[in-house]
Amino acid sequence: MTGRIPKGFIDDVVARTDIIDLIDAKVPLKKAGKNYQACCPFHNEKSPSFSVSPEKQFYHCFGCGAHGNAISFLMEYEQLEFVEAIEELARLHSIDVPREDNGTGKQKKYPTVSREQKQSDYELMELAAKFFQHNLKHDQNSKAVIDYLKNRNLSGEICQRYGIGYAPDSWDSILKSIGKTKAQQQQLLDLKVLNQNDSGRTYDFFRKRVMFPIRDKRGRVVGFGGRVIDDGTPKYLNSPETRIFHKGNELYGFYQAKQANQNLERVLIVEGYMDVVSLAQQGISYAVAALGTATTPEHMQLLFRSTRQVICCYDGDRAGRDAAWRALENAMPHLKDGVDLRFTFLPDGEDPDTMVQKEGKEAFEVRLGEAKPLLDYFFEHFVNALDITSDAGKSALLSQAKPLIEVVPSDYYKEALLAKLARLIGRDADKIKLANRSPIAEVKRQQTEFQITPMRRAIGLLLQHPNLAKEVPFIPALANAEMPGFATFIAIQKLILDEPEIKQSVLLERFRSQKEYSFLARLFSWEHQIDDENLIQEFAETFKSLQDSYLEKRLEALLIKGKTGQLDKQEQIEYVALMSALKS
Ligand code: CTP
Ligand code: MN
Repeated sequence: MTGRIPKGFIDDVVARTDIIDLIDAKVPLKKAGKNYQACCPFHNEKSPSFSVSPEKQFYHCFGCGAHGNAISFLMEYEQLEFVEAIEELARLHSIDVPREDNGTGKQKKYPTVSREQKQSDYELMELAAKFFQHNLKHDQNSKAVIDYLKNRNLSGEICQRYGIGYAPDSWDSILKSIGKTKAQQQQLLDLKVLNQNDSGRTYDFFRKRVMFPIRDKRGRVVGFGGRVIDDGTPKYLNSPETRIFHKGNELYGFYQAKQANQNLERVLIVEGYMDVVSLAQQGISYAVAALGTATTPEHMQLLFRSTRQVICCYDGDRAGRDAAWRALENAMPHLKDGVDLRFTFLPDGEDPDTMVQKEGKEAFEVRLGEAKPLLDYFFEHFVNALDITSDAGKSALLSQAKPLIEVVPSDYYKEALLAKLARLIGRDADKIKLANRSPIAEVKRQQTEFQITPMRRAIGLLLQHPNLAKEVPFIPALANAEMPGFATFIAIQKLILDEPEIKQSVLLERFRSQKEYSFLARLFSWEHQIDDENLIQEFAETFKSLQDSYLEKRLEALLIKGKTGQLDKQEQIEYVALMSALKS
């Protein structure tokens, strides 16, 4: 079914969920006053600044600024999409997610790809993978392909584990077997399993290639890499980006690595598909490969969330060194306390596949054990390229290293890098001024700059205590008042007056898709310190002062107009009304 999830259902599932239970199951919480706390799961810290409010059904981290409700938590923590998060909550309560029938059978309302579309895409990709796998055994070329894999010392079991297959030497085998209807053909085209030429003819994208299905972190096939079995070109052909395949986010072999290791203690980043599979064949089941692209910041973030140690293993040649440095640059903004990033370079002419076959698992792991720690590699890189005995070299080192160090979120690594930098240039570490460019520091700065103006105060109180809505008059006309935020205040008030029973967390959820959401979420987590018994009065006073300041402005405008020209009948009436309103 392709309809939207009814609003009421989203409200319901949020209202049914206790965020304390939800989070506590994943991040053990401790009671602290009326809230619960833990070390923040979204950034690295030693003392807890992640706070969850049972009353607001909302979490907020004072360290990194992460905040949200049950849905947001699942989206962030489990990396789910909005609809997937709802489905997960529904699953926890053992209820089905209803869908509105929008009649068209098409998903128009969501700008992004719908869950159903994706689901169907994943299923079709799985079918394609199965088709390739089937052909590995049953195609007329089978023997040659299997011989090729055997020659590369891959066992049937490993080929099975990685789902390796074969795309036949044919223009229409996939088309014929799984592209039977027009709709399927279009979908296969969208997923780039089929291609189309200029004259509109549709044909198989991968032909006569060993196929490596690329699975996302949840195990779904999102793309393929295909290798020739002779010396044809290109040696590897990869799926282009599609609506479900974003190369910068996926790592080949990551899913299998997680499957093979209950606790993924270490991840090895290598360059090729074959390297990953061959390492697994030799018993090293924790290698992953970026997909013909550099290792991205997203890759690094994903890895640091899943494992403690990341070792980048590249060829010793120029290209390998460049790739390693790119990986380092992209890792710096995600370098948390407690993670361990290392680099190792293979001898000339070797890659992990040839190396591990030559020397075996133990020797290869000894090699990994000797990989260079980040700190060593970082400075070695500069020292090799610069003459740091000269002032020119020292100043170049300072200016090139500093921006990389500035983005490091871990205090430990930042200080260690800085200390070593200072030593190399012969200066005191505290003389080197770092710009505060770490993302967490940035959020902290924004937080302290977030002033609670009277309008924000009114909105924040109303959001946190919906029952206040009835304490002030509802004045739709004021929605047009030229005061930033007033329209939002009125919108919230109207929602509450329409649904007096609405819960706070549900109320905020209603704004998720609107541009004000993050602003409102901040106000929602603002700790106002007003006692319950004073709440109504404080709120009423805040509202009154806002209203008065608007009325005064309006009155002043009318007065000026009255002096220079004529007020029309309407304006005269307004003037009198304003005078009496202000007196009351
Ligand atoms: N690659 C690619 N397109 C190419 C060549 C390489 O996308 N034309 C990517 C592939 O992801 C490949 C990786 O770069 O796995 C490494 O390439 P290379 O070292 O040439 O291949 P190997 O992995 O060593 O493959 P093989 O051992 O099968 O030659
Ligand atoms: Mn190779």
